[in-house]
Amino acid sequence: MNEIKVSAERDYVVSFPSSWRPRFNELIANRSFAVIVPEPISSQIKDVVDPSRLILTSDGESQKSIDSYGSILEKLALMGLDRSSLIVGIGGGATTDLAGFVAATYLRGVDWVAIPTTVAGMVDAAIGGKTGVNLTSGKNLAGAFFSPHEVVIDTNWLSTLSDRDIRAGLAEAVKCGFISEPKILDLVTDWKRNLTEIIALSVGVKAGVVARDFKESHEREILNYGHTLGHAIEKHSGYSLRHGEAVSIGMCFAAELSVKLSGLSGSIAEKHREILQALDLPVTYSATAFDALFDLMRSDKKRGAGGLRFVTLKALGATDRATASRELLNECYLKSVGR
Ligand SMILES: NC(=O)c1ccc[n+]([C@@H]2O[C@H](COP(=O)([O-])OP(=O)(O)OC[C@H]3O[C@@H](n4cnc5c(N)ncnc54)[C@H](O)[C@@H]3O)[C@@H](O)[C@H]2O)c1
Repeated sequence: MNEIKVSAERDYVVSFPSSWRPRFNELIANRSFAVIVPEPISSQIKDVVDPSRLILTSDGESQKSIDSYGSILEKLALMGLDRSSLIVGIGGGATTDLAGFVAATYLRGVDWVAIPTTVAGMVDAAIGGKTGVNLTSGKNLAGAFFSPHEVVIDTNWLSTLSDRDIRAGLAEAVKCGFISEPKILDLVTDWKRNLTEIIALSVGVKAGVVARDFKESHEREILNYGHTLGHAIEKHSGYSLRHGEAVSIGMCFAAELSVKLSGLSGSIAEKHREILQALDLPVTYSATAFDALFDLMRSDKKRGAGGLRFVTLKALGATDRATASRELLNECYLKSVGR
């Protein structure tokens, strides 16, 4: 597996070199460039990147603030980057979201390259051209659809990533398995051995969906399978759960809803629980939290006229959409995840 092509507002590739270093050197050759990287990861790139080209950010979600975004734009201007320059984001999804938005807006858009270093970044955040930062009012409220010039995936990065972060990232791969590519569901049973193939197949799923619906007018919504409840749980838990952990719970709920509304077989719903539990991902949440979660889901953007609208499954690899009343949601919540 050398590369996967992605067609969007412009075409690009996701490459899978055995090491990101030579590919990075080829990409920056004869160009001025800047590398945006969170401080904790910067020690891992010292031997490759000229320190005068580095822009260090804080770690995690805090780097996606308006202040951090503004200060990076100022630094790029001081470094003299012009329209032919390249911006490289090296880090997890927070970093590639930030670097992409910086690239989308600096001088009205310059080329950028994503080098994701987490599973979540590799299978999800760095693919698809959604870039953005957070506002005080909420996550990802400022952003742009702006595809990278290339995404460089080197799974050696993952050797330093915590087991918890790897498993949380795999929840998104499992999602790709249920909505489109069931082979992933077999491979995750031995994920340590199959990690590169799982990542490549998940990238293939996302690339295919994005090519058909870059700006999320309809099909791209299927990537939100499990996310409506997942986002609500993430927020309700005060972000103590990783995104992928919350999505894991959300998928079990979406599966139960699928049984009720889209004719999914009970055995496929049960398969969700088996696979996610085997990955040590959570599949339950507080039984008394439903009212608060319902309010959070209602304030989410996927609200239909006659109730809340969800991505559901008709069968393995076949998605559907369904609108559900509060009563039905409560029933499915208690049956599937509210323990
Ligand atoms: N644009 C999209 O389509 C999209 C999709 C999904 C998620 N996202 C965004 O992605 C972000 C979540 O991504 P994430 O889970 O990668 O979070 P993250 O970028 O915050 O990284 C998680 C943690 O892992 C550390 N880390 C990164 N790489 C490491 C490595 N190789 N070894 C050791 N530690 C490492 C980071 O320093 C950080 O502390 C969120 O901001 C979310 O909004 C975007």
